[in-house]
Amino acid sequence: MIDFHSHVLPGMDDGSRSVAESIKMMEASLDQGVEMIVATPHFFPWQEKPDDFLARRDSAINTLPQFSSIIRAGAEVAYYDGIDYSEEIERLKIDDTDFILIEMPMTIWSRRMLEALHTIEKRTRLKVVLAHLERYVPFLKKSDHLDYVCENFLIQVNADYFCNRWTQRKALKLVKEGAVDFVGSDCHNMTSRPPNMGEAYQTMEKKLGIKSVCAFKDKQKKFLEGGQIYER
Ligand SMILES: [Fe+2]
Repeated sequence: MIDFHSHVLPGMDDGSRSVAESIKMMEASLDQGVEMIVATPHFFPWQEKPDDFLARRDSAINTLPQFSSIIRAGAEVAYYDGIDYSEEIERLKIDDTDFILIEMPMTIWSRRMLEALHTIEKRTRLKVVLAHLERYVPFLKKSDHLDYVCENFLIQVNADYFCNRWTQRKALKLVKEGAVDFVGSDCHNMTSRPPNMGEAYQTMEKKLGIKSVCAFKDKQKKFLEGGQIYER
């Protein structure tokens, strides 16, 4: 399985604080069956230049050489006004793929914001993946944009959405509807936000059946194999 969203790199953001903690997080992920982990430290364009961020990220990855074959370098790029015309946005994509993980603000999204996401895809080769969509569902329902967003962009949801018994029904419904493209642990540490991909997939297998979970995993296989084209 692929963990598409994680804060496992040491000292990058509010995630892992040390190499030792990162090693524990990586080992826990492997134990749960994760085969590839996309490291997506927060990138806040108003705080740091891409050059500085990418240099810090490379150094952080180099502290974990034993996991180099399963870590893919990415970023969780915070949306900002003007992101659609940024010249540097492509540098923040996930490794050798065409995906960019974007974290949207916790507000009602305007039409202008949705257009900006389309503009990114038109101006570049990038495919927008929206991070932890579940956080925005109430806002998207309010503005009647939920179906539109699910149909028009790639969607990542957090493993927690499946693990929490109050939300798992909604999470499973989204998977059944084909709206979920990627799952990520969004793990930050080994205590309050630990790696939990194994539990999420166990829930999916129990409730949806192994067959459909295999199909869900297969959908992501192109990515696992380094394919750059992704179709629903
Ligand atoms: Fe995150």
